[in-house]
Amino acid sequence: MADWVEVCAVDDVEEEDVIRFDYGGRTFAIYRSPDDEFFATDGFCTHEKAHLADGLVMDDIIECPKHNGRFNYKTGQAKGAPVCVNLMTYPVKVEAGKVLIQIG
Ligand code: FES
Repeated sequence: MADWVEVCAVDDVEEEDVIRFDYGGRTFAIYRSPDDEFFATDGFCTHEKAHLADGLVMDDIIECPKHNGRFNYKTGQAKGAPVCVNLMTYPVKVEAGKVLIQIG
């Protein structure tokens, strides 16, 4: 059974930004889109192990800080070289001003 895990307060993530979240020995990236929705993916780029939370959010894209690979953080889809493996995504919900993600 997948658990819902509290990440942070809604206000801890700026719009069109990303933060890092470490839990259970794993690292996730939590995004707040320009239209004020929250999303979660694995925290590391699938190309090499760069922290996506150090990258740049533009609309629905996260750009990796290392070689500028791009993913759609809403779907996890890799958007072309040098990244070809999609990111894992995780369900997110907001409750009582907190952001929670469901980790399988
Ligand atoms: Fe992310 Fe290379 S490590 S594009």
